[in-house]
Amino acid sequence: MYKIMFVCLGNICRSPMAELVCKDLLKKAGREGEFLISSAATSSENVYNGVGAPVYGPIKSLLESKGISCAGKRAQVLTQADGEKYDLFLCMDESNVRNVKRILGEQHAGKCKKLLSYAGESGDVADPWYTRDFQKAYDDIYRGVQGLLKTL
Ligand code: 4NP
Repeated sequence: MYKIMFVCLGNICRSPMAELVCKDLLKKAGREGEFLISSAATSSENVYNGVGAPVYGPIKSLLESKGISCAGKRAQVLTQADGEKYDLFLCMDESNVRNVKRILGEQHAGKCKKLLSYAGESGDVADPWYTRDFQKAYDDIYRGVQGLLKTL
């Protein structure tokens, strides 16, 4: 089974959106059994006393409008042990890439890529926590995940 971890800073906006969009597209293609898909944060900002925050409200609403439920998804922090478990770490921006390599160690650097590289783009998925442009984040993530699925 091929294992993919999506990563962003807080794991309440971009990476859960990527995880849930990816699972939705795989399900629609009848391929969900071939993959383990998850998401995690590089920061512990959204985990309190070991309990992760749910998906951020505006992201949840946007995904629900596409028929995608966020039920059960809670923020979690990327750990060094994830480096052995997962085959691919898909980051939203350059700072995520730097932090993921720091957490996992350089031996796993080859598994670490930016999501938009799968759409043939060099840019970042801008953080909607700061930009407030949730639709732009969704559109970027959708393009990246569609490109990814063509390669799998
Ligand atoms: P995300 O956005 O990395 O796309 O989940 C953020 C959400 C929350 C925070 C930072 C980024 N925060 O600092 O709480």
